Amino acid sequence: MKTKLIAIASFFLIISACSSNKSTIQEPTTIAVKMNKDEAGKMLYENNCAKCHDLYSPKDFNAEQWKPIMLSMQKKAKISDEEREIIYAYLTK
Ligand code: HEC
Repeated sequence: MKTKLIAIASFFLIISACSSNKSTIQEPTTIAVKMNKDEAGKMLYENNCAKCHDLYSPKDFNAEQWKPIMLSMQKKAKISDEEREIIYAYLTK
């Protein structure tokens, strides 16, 4: 009787360990990646773009308008192409 219970208990342990593994590997990482990109964009924007003037609201310009602005401000803020892209994605999301 005891061994049967242990066998059943470990069976469920294995099943639940497998299924919880799947959900912790897949869903939270995709959410985390989305969050990180957005947070990185916000962070880069706040750290690099408020040195000379107040931060503009992302809504002040549309995606087309942000393109040339980002290109000229990239030189002023001395940021990389990749950082510019991340900030651009944040401003135009
Ligand atoms: C070294 C100083 C400096 C930094 C750093 C800087 N800016 Fe500017 N920014 C300016 C100046 C000066 C102007 C106004 C004249 C101009 O457009 O060159 C301006 C203007 C702007 C405007 C208004 C453009 C328009 O057409 O009205 C926006 C939007 C802007 N900056 C965004 C940014 C962003 C985004 C960053 C970060 C990547 C940034 N700035 C970093 C100096 C800076």
